Amino acid sequence: MNLSKEELQFLFDLIFKKSAIVLNERKDYLIYNRLTPLLKLNNISTLSDLTDELKRDNQDLASQVVDALTTNETLFFRDLRPFDMLKDHIIPSILENNIKTKNINIWSSACSTGQEPYSIKMMLLENFPQLSDWKINIFATDISDIVLDQAREGVYSQAEVNRGLPIKMLVKYFENKDGKWFVKDLLKENINFKNLNFVDKWPEIPPMDIILVRNVLIYFNRERKQDILKRLCNQLSNNGKIILGSSETIIGLDIPLECEIFEKSCFYKLKEDFSK
Ligand SMILES: C[S@@+](CC[C@H](N)C(=O)[O-])C[C@H]1O[C@@H](n2cnc3c(N)ncnc32)[C@H](O)[C@@H]1O
Repeated sequence: MNLSKEELQFLFDLIFKKSAIVLNERKDYLIYNRLTPLLKLNNISTLSDLTDELKRDNQDLASQVVDALTTNETLFFRDLRPFDMLKDHIIPSILENNIKTKNINIWSSACSTGQEPYSIKMMLLENFPQLSDWKINIFATDISDIVLDQAREGVYSQAEVNRGLPIKMLVKYFENKDGKWFVKDLLKENINFKNLNFVDKWPEIPPMDIILVRNVLIYFNRERKQDILKRLCNQLSNNGKIILGSSETIIGLDIPLECEIFEKSCFYKLKEDFSK
């Protein structure tokens, strides 16, 4: 049964408030397709009843709704070029800058089911043996506990490892058991998965050398994008870099970042006059 205009608007507003994700009538099919499976799980008869329950401020149901409406599409070494840029330019410059501390902090924000942070770790292990006595911290966060559970477990289907993962790395860093692929401990080490919602208060986060915020800002409006990027700027170390998704830009946003092109990719660094 269809929801009334008022009920749909209530859901759009709730999702925006809880996650910054913008939905509107053109995307109402997402509400029907993704929220219907929650009915049975929660013993609720109709989407209208579910909306009423949300109006009664059922927090657990609200987080299930937000979870269901996130788009978690991801793959290993997504877009490839940013990983080449990390390997050929960004990591070598961090190796020089951080030689005294021998510490690298990387934040994969909106990491979904973990392919992004695991790809970063594989790129580091494959190309930078000199990091063996460095402290590498990969902070991997997402709003969704469901995707974080899979990321933490590090268990992938054949179809998931077929997407983007070179066979050489599959056999080196994963173990096959009963048709599933399990991430080996070596790859899991130093990756810390945590729930973090961009629109909430953030925990204490150390200065980051690299922040990846890829394929998530597209779901937000201009104002939220700007707010989130400003907050991310405050989390960067002095030489820190931000990497966006390959179809995302900061054009039209008032933020203290400037773009630097490397080969056919681009990363963002703090403008020289920026002060925290
Ligand atoms: C399309 S995936 C991108 C995954 C990965 N970064 C990549 O590029 O392959 C977008 C992720 O953003 C997360 N997300 C959506 N809204 C969020 C928010 N407000 N705070 C944190 N993560 C959010 C979703 O749960 C989803 O896993």
